[in-house]
Amino acid sequence: AFCLYYYVSNKILFLYPQNFKNFMIKSVIKGYGYYVPENVVTNDDLSKLMTTNDEWITERTGIKERRHRKNRNDSEETTAVFAKRASEKALEKAGLTAKDIDFIVFATLSPDYYFPGSGVLLQDLLGCDTIGALDVRNQCSGFVYAMSVADAFIKSGTYKNILVVGAEIHSFGLDFSDEGRGVSVIFGDGAGAVILSATEDENEEGILAINLHSEGKYAEELAVKFGGTKYGWSDRLLTEPEAVTKDMLYPLMNGNFVFKHAVTRFPESLMEALNKAGKKPEDLDMFIPHQANLRISQFVQQKMGLPDDKVYNNIQKYGNTTAASIPIALCEALDEGKVKKGDLVCLTAFGSGFTWGSVLFKY
Ligand code: COA
Repeated sequence: AFCLYYYVSNKILFLYPQNFKNFMIKSVIKGYGYYVPENVVTNDDLSKLMTTNDEWITERTGIKERRHRKNRNDSEETTAVFAKRASEKALEKAGLTAKDIDFIVFATLSPDYYFPGSGVLLQDLLGCDTIGALDVRNQCSGFVYAMSVADAFIKSGTYKNILVVGAEIHSFGLDFSDEGRGVSVIFGDGAGAVILSATEDENEEGILAINLHSEGKYAEELAVKFGGTKYGWSDRLLTEPEAVTKDMLYPLMNGNFVFKHAVTRFPESLMEALNKAGKKPEDLDMFIPHQANLRISQFVQQKMGLPDDKVYNNIQKYGNTTAASIPIALCEALDEGKVKKGDLVCLTAFGSGFTWGSVLFKY
């Protein structure tokens, strides 16, 4: 029996050596960078536009300020431009140039155009070769989904260096009147990027576990309804503008409902990732949750029994930047030395869709 096993396994190895090699390929973060616009908008600034106050916003969300592009309708400062700035920093950190990038995965819910997506614009702005550029539409979970796509391409041996970006400009599309105050105080602008690269090192470094989830029956609990095939298109806006209501045009969020689902899904997804990798919560060096709401992150931290220094939050400064929030937080945690080489880190997100998921990796 042993001889037969030996013969068969050697035969397979001889016929398909590439398959065995690919089992050893892992994705590691080779570079990272972020960009946020200079224009700081404090809670007091917002209280000049709508009936709100610093106390309400701080108490319910933890947010003190966020960044908005200077001019809300500036056609030069677009999502792809923000992404370019973050990507250039990530390339520099990785010691690579745009020509070294094999593929782009771009997560955003606020693209420059309805179509095409912003990935192709980034390919052009960076001066990459005519590489593929894929847009991911998973809102707050966008970056986690984008990382999973990049990881799969790397593990399959298809690409070596993938630029993964999350970028958002919310400030152009929020309702800053009293009607929109439950949503508009939360969201901010920014971009973050990582270069995910292939490695065959045999140490544990790299992505260890990923999970992705969705529950589409809750799509309208957090959505922008207009601009699609269900509620209407530009044609409707031109021919029957009175039928196009504010609640179709601006983001609509059932805040309480989202909160309740988020505090369940975050720990579930984090535990799923840890279990898959054979790790325990106490093995975790840093948990970087999507910056949805400081109260959500604190709730999850408590539920998981994690100490303060193992949960990274920067929502106080930037608000919720959806797909950009995890990469911005990751970049800051790395720059501040709070994530170090060899650390076990989990990125977990929850958002519109509903969608949620995690990426667990050893840095
Ligand atoms: N300033 C002052 N008052 C505000 C306000 C604002 N910016 N926004 C809403 N209010 C008022 C409401 O009008 C309401 O007044 P009423 O009681 O007179 O009707 C009151 O505050 C409570 O509103 P409610 O929506 O019930 O508040 P909440 O405690 O649920 O907090 C959120 C609202 C949005 C902060 C909270 O639900 C939340 O954080 N949800 C999760 C959102 C999230 O994380 N989204 C991103 C997911 S990725």
